[in-house]
Amino acid sequence: MKPYVLLVASVAALGGLLFGYDTGVISGAILFISKDFGLATRLQEFTISIVLLGCIGGAAFAGTLADRIGRRPTLATAGLVFLAGAIVSALAPTEGVLLGGRFIVGIGIGFSSVVAPLYISEVAPANVRGALVSLYQFAITVGILGAYLVDYALSGAGQWRWMLGLALIPSAILLGGMYFMPESPRYLFKTGLAGRAREELGRIYGDSAASAREEASIVEGLQVKSAGFEVFKAPEVRLALVIGVSLAVLQQITGINTVIYYGPRIFQMAGIGSATGSIFAQSLVGGVNCVMTLVAIFLVDRVGRKPLLYAGLVGMFVALAALAISFAYPQLIAGSHGVVALASMMLYVGCFAFSLGPIVWLLISEIFPLPARGLGMSLSTLANWVGNFFVSQFFLTMIDKLGRAPTFWLYAGLCVVTLLFVRAMVPETKQELLEQIHVG
Ligand code: BGC
Repeated sequence: MKPYVLLVASVAALGGLLFGYDTGVISGAILFISKDFGLATRLQEFTISIVLLGCIGGAAFAGTLADRIGRRPTLATAGLVFLAGAIVSALAPTEGVLLGGRFIVGIGIGFSSVVAPLYISEVAPANVRGALVSLYQFAITVGILGAYLVDYALSGAGQWRWMLGLALIPSAILLGGMYFMPESPRYLFKTGLAGRAREELGRIYGDSAASAREEASIVEGLQVKSAGFEVFKAPEVRLALVIGVSLAVLQQITGINTVIYYGPRIFQMAGIGSATGSIFAQSLVGGVNCVMTLVAIFLVDRVGRKPLLYAGLVGMFVALAALAISFAYPQLIAGSHGVVALASMMLYVGCFAFSLGPIVWLLISEIFPLPARGLGMSLSTLANWVGNFFVSQFFLTMIDKLGRAPTFWLYAGLCVVTLLFVRAMVPETKQELLEQIHVG
C-alpha cells in the first residue's frame, strides 16, 4: 500500500475518532454535568441521547451534500461542525446551551459516519479497501477508549468542560487536514472532471495499467444516468438498499451499544459493586474493542468479509448466551458472577470488533453503484442511528420489563438472524473493484 493512500485514509478516519470520542465521553461527563446544572433523571437521559438525534439529522443530509459539493468538502464541513459543537458544549453557561452544543456534535458525527467510510472506500485500491475502511472503525474504537480514559483522568476534579472541549483538537486536525486531501477520483469522474480524476488515480496507484483499469471500470459504472431517489427504481439498487439498511440496523439491534454505553451498569448488576471497579472493567472492554479491530484490518482483504462475519457472530452468540445463563442461574457461578460477566462482555465486544463493527461500515460503502452511493450510504447510516437510538433508549426499560436473562437472549437470537441474513443476502466483495460489486 502506498503511504499516500494510508495518509488520506488516516486523515478521513479522524471522523471516526471523533465519532467514538463524542459518543463515549458523555458517560463520564454526565455525572458532573448533572451536579452543576442540577439535572433530574429525565433531563440527564436527554443530555445523553440528544447527540443521537443530531446524528440522525446529520446522516440524513450527508449523502446529498456529498453528492452535491463533493466528499472532501463534506468531510471538512464535518470537522467544522465538530469544532463548533466542542466549543459550544465546553463553554455552555446553561443546560439549554449544552443541549444545543451536543446536538451540533451529533450532526458532525452523522456527517462523518456517512462520508468518512464513503470517501475512504472511493480512494482505496480494491486490494486494501477492507483494511482501510476497517481503519475507520479502529479510529472509532480508539475514540471510545480515549473518551473513557479522559473521563477517568479528569473525574477527580469533575472537569466535564474539558472532557467535552478536548474534542476540539482532532476536530481542528480533521478540518485542516481535509484542506490538503484530494477529492475522490470517483466523484471527480462523476462531475466530469476527468483530468483531475486521472491525476488522482495516478497518485493512488502509481502504476498506469492499474489506474487505467480502474478508470475504465468507473466510467462504465457511470453509464447509469439517474439522479436523486430515482436511482432506487432499479431493482438491483433497491436490493442494495434493503441489504444496506438491514445490515446497519442489525449492527445495532444485536446490542453493541448496551455494552459500550451501559457497561458499568451491567457490571454492577453482576455484582461488581464499586464505581471504580466497574469503570476499570469498562476500560478493559474498551481495550479489547480496539485491539480486536486490528484482526479485521489484517484479515478482511485476505479471508474476506463473510467468513469474518460468521466467526464474529458465532462468538457474539456464545458470549450473550453465557451472559443470559449467568443472570438466569446465578447460583451456578456463585461468587464469580462479576468475572463471568466481564469475560462474556470481553468475548462479545472482541467478536463484534473484528466482524459486525468494521464490516457493516465497509459493506454499506461498497454495495451501492456510484450514482446511488451517497444516498444509499446516507439512508443506511440513518437507519443505523435510528437503531442505536432505540436500543439505547429502551435497554434499561427492557431489563426492567423483560428481565435480565431474556434481554440478553433476545440479542443472542438476533445474532442468529444476522448470521442467516448474511448467508442469504450479502455478497462477498473481497478484492473486487467497487464497480464490479453486484448484489443479488
Ligand atoms: C458502531 C457503533 C459502536 C461502535 C463500537 C460502531 O461500528 O456503529 O454504534 O458504538 O462500533 O466500537
